Amino acid sequence: MLLLSFLVVCHGGSLSKSFYQHSCPQADDIIKSKTLQHVSADPNLPAKLLLMHFHDCFVRFNKPLWEVPTGRRDGTVSKSIDALTNIPSPFFNFTQLKQNFARKGLTVSDMVVLSGAHTIGIAHCNSFSNRLYNFTGKGDQDPSLDSTYAAFLKTKCKSLSDTTTTVAMDPGSSGNFDSHYYPNLLQKKGLLQSDAALLIEDQSKGIVQELVNQNNFFTEFAKSMERMGAIEVLTGSAGEIRIKCSVVNS
Ligand code: HEM
Ligand SMILES: *[C@@H]1O[C@H](CO)[C@@H](O)[C@H](O)[C@H]1NC(C)=O
Ligand SMILES: *[C@@H]1O[C@H](CO)[C@@H](O)[C@H](O)[C@H]1NC(C)=O
Repeated sequence: MLLLSFLVVCHGGSLSKSFYQHSCPQADDIIKSKTLQHVSADPNLPAKLLLMHFHDCFVRFNKPLWEVPTGRRDGTVSKSIDALTNIPSPFFNFTQLKQNFARKGLTVSDMVVLSGAHTIGIAHCNSFSNRLYNFTGKGDQDPSLDSTYAAFLKTKCKSLSDTTTTVAMDPGSSGNFDSHYYPNLLQKKGLLQSDAALLIEDQSKGIVQELVNQNNFFTEFAKSMERMGAIEVLTGSAGEIRIKCSVVNS
């Protein structure tokens, strides 16, 4: 429910909470009840929605306009190459991650907080199996990965060529949106290299330690989500309203 309310806020209301007040007074209720209906049919949906929101926010939209804070509109450009160049790679080191978030006006703190989204959902073996089998190109394992956890992961991802198997991102608690990601990370059980990278610097590691506290995490996550949701947003007459969500109007 917490997660859903973020999604509704970010998609419908963060620019102006009353944007649909006159044009479609039931909009928020419709979105909420439809989302709930779909989520109860598919518990994996919140993870997909959250990931989609992250990717939407990081990918370039055409001509951002900030001065008319009304409703969020769709981009008139949709290129897969934009996703590849904007979305951070799981193989990024701390410096690269920090730069990637900074380019979008987000801080190291936002980055650590938002990475907590990895408390739910799954990852494919090829997003991390280099850490198990060929970390530095010498057939070695990532020393910053807990060895018991690595042994477990090897039973799931049997080789570097496995691109289809998936594993839970936050083992033991991957169905729950909670702060479990952080104690897990501190035990060297962060799944992705980009998760482990958050422990590299003292400042960032300090933030990880603070977010073990679930109240802190929820409060900070909501704030950082709002900031992420405001990245290069299209409002007023910028962009368009797509007839079909996945494609630019012709
Ligand atoms: C810090 C930089 C980040 C990197 C490098 C990263 C990378 C990844 C990767 C590689 C996966 C697994 C994809 C797969 O193998 O199928 C993943 C999953 C996921 N990520 Fe991130 N991510 C980052 C930050 C975020 C943020 C900021 C959010 C949202 C606020 C987010 C939400 C998710 C979710 C919910 C999943 C699970 C999706 C599912 O279950 O299908 N990630 N991420
Ligand atoms: C991070 O990766 C970049 C690009 O591969 C590299 O130039 C840089 O030296 C790396 N930084 C650290 C601290 O390892
Ligand atoms: C491990 O990485 C090295 C260097 O990139 C490469 O030559 C080797 O083929 C890789 N091993 C496997 C099993 O892919």
